[in-house]
Amino acid sequence: MKVFVTGAAGQVGSHVVDSLIARCDQVLGIDNFATGREEHVAKSDLYTFVNGSIGDTKTINDIFDSFKPDVVVHTAAAYKDPDDWKTDVETNVFGAVNLIQASKEAQVKRFIYFQTALIYGVKPDANPVPLDHARRVDNSSYSISKGAAEDYLTLSGLDHVVFRLANVVGDRCVSGPLPLFYQRLGQGKQCFVTPARRDFVFVDDLVKAVVKAIDGQGKGAYHFSSGTDVPIIDLYNAVVKAMGLTDAPEPELRPLTEDDAPSILLDPTRTYQDFGQIEFTPLEDTVKAAIDYYNEFGAIGGYTHLKSDH
Ligand SMILES: NC(=O)c1ccc[n+]([C@@H]2O[C@H](COP(=O)([O-])OP(=O)(O)OC[C@H]3O[C@@H](n4cnc5c(N)ncnc54)[C@H](O)[C@@H]3O)[C@@H](O)[C@H]2O)c1
Repeated sequence: MKVFVTGAAGQVGSHVVDSLIARCDQVLGIDNFATGREEHVAKSDLYTFVNGSIGDTKTINDIFDSFKPDVVVHTAAAYKDPDDWKTDVETNVFGAVNLIQASKEAQVKRFIYFQTALIYGVKPDANPVPLDHARRVDNSSYSISKGAAEDYLTLSGLDHVVFRLANVVGDRCVSGPLPLFYQRLGQGKQCFVTPARRDFVFVDDLVKAVVKAIDGQGKGAYHFSSGTDVPIIDLYNAVVKAMGLTDAPEPELRPLTEDDAPSILLDPTRTYQDFGQIEFTPLEDTVKAAIDYYNEFGAIGGYTHLKSDH
């Protein structure tokens, strides 16, 4: 199979690439290194990597003409500066439309997309959030632009799967509190935690479902969430443990800001129905994989869609 993976130097994209190469698929990846890292780029005869942007229509059309993908896995996303709306639109909307229209033209078999739980708003009406919960994308440029891309995908009529995600973490994670905790604790600095609760899922668990979707399993939107959330301090404690620290400073407790969600928990019922029961990796093992990775490559990022006063 020929698979075109966007965001191929990112956390999810690079793991998808590795899994596909391991089973001898032909893979082409693209990334502009906005948040991706050079060391995530796979090296294999089965792999072609393009250093470029999905916002560049010619680059995308040339890839479709030459590589002729069967399936597109679209993980690329812009989110690191909450005030840089133009970059969000260029990547998350214009880039997605480039891919969707080229996929239609080339009659790709399926298109796989990744959605943020923020499309349900920062204070959803139910917890866990049902799949048919009303969309409220007005909380950030990230969620507005990510939501629009999903609408274009639906409009296209392409055969597609959308994974709406809880917090995906593990090795190669550059966003959210995990790399920040590592960086600060490594420098002996105090961290802060909020009362927010999150469902931290291991990137490898997601990638297994993505590979099934590439092979034709599922159709439409799915929540990828274990259905259980934990306070952020549990993540912090798992980082302290994985780093082997015995004298870490107590974290400061800060209130939630307006644009932060108290909880992100998604109802995974339909996912279990169509993808089978998922054995979610325990948080401690997930965090250990991330810390092993940071120990080897260093931690960058801690990017977040949240405003910088957070
Ligand atoms: N990780 C999570 O918790 C989470 C939660 C909700 C949704 N998602 C979605 O999952 C997908 C993967 O997220 P991730 O955790 O791997 O993030 P990531 O930041 O590790 O990967 C995204 C990749 O996209 C690349 N990129 C950005 N703009 C680009 C452009 N114009 N052209 C080409 N590449 C570009 C980045 O450099 C990066 O490598 C994204 O679509 C994201 O919106 C992730």
